[in-house]
Amino acid sequence: MSARVVSHWVVIPAAGVGRRMGTDRPKQYLEMAGSTVIELALRHFLAHPRIRGIVVALDPEDPYWPALNIRGVNPLTTVAGGSQRAHSVLNALDRLAEQAQAHDWVLVHDAARPCLTRTDLDRLLGALDPDPVGGILAAPVRDTIKRACPSRRIARTVDRQGLWHAYTPQMFRLGALRFALRGCLDAGLPVTDEASAIEQLGLPPRLVRGRSDNIKVTRPEDLALARYLLAHQGL
Ligand code: CTP
Ligand code: MG
Repeated sequence: MSARVVSHWVVIPAAGVGRRMGTDRPKQYLEMAGSTVIELALRHFLAHPRIRGIVVALDPEDPYWPALNIRGVNPLTTVAGGSQRAHSVLNALDRLAEQAQAHDWVLVHDAARPCLTRTDLDRLLGALDPDPVGGILAAPVRDTIKRACPSRRIARTVDRQGLWHAYTPQMFRLGALRFALRGCLDAGLPVTDEASAIEQLGLPPRLVRGRSDNIKVTRPEDLALARYLLAHQGL
């Protein structure tokens, strides 16, 4: 019997409004390095030989996306996003399920993470291809971590040993991820990333060490930092 063909797909949740950023437009459309945040977040996927296709989840009223000139070898489609990130991702997975197989891999990457390097992407693909569960790019926490009490005084110091920052891409099998996200949303469980939904199934996603400059543009000061990091990645 021939080996089963496994394809890799990409989902980009880009339907957020960027409330914490507070700019005149959603942060994924802010200018960066002569491009935009979302174009930079997409760039390694557009021509990657192992990526079969890309689905971007957008606000249906989004006036900025049509103005971009995104070109690449890999097919790209858009779907309507939802009220929370997990809804946007699930809508994109539902679209993918029309053409992809349940055992195919899906890489979910935030539109607001423009500093992902090709090296980290390839490391993730290489590390997880033989993995039964999937996993995420992540980096060990380096600051001392405090648990606050309601009065915003320190209740205690948390042991940093074994704590990691979760980044994206997060890479899981299409069927398992759809099932996991749907289950969490139906049960009203919080889903901050794809891994948390997979964890709810009792499965342990793998942590693949990535660069700590793969930041998510979240607050106003992050944009200048992301511009600096991108310019100094030396790639
Ligand atoms: N996202 C999405 N659909 C939503 C909310 C978020 O597709 N309903 C996307 C964002 O566009 C972003 C990614 O999920 O690319 C990470 O979310 P976050 O950083 O929280 O972005 P926003 O929700 O836009 O920002 P904020 O929480 O400050 O409003
Ligand atoms: Mg948000």
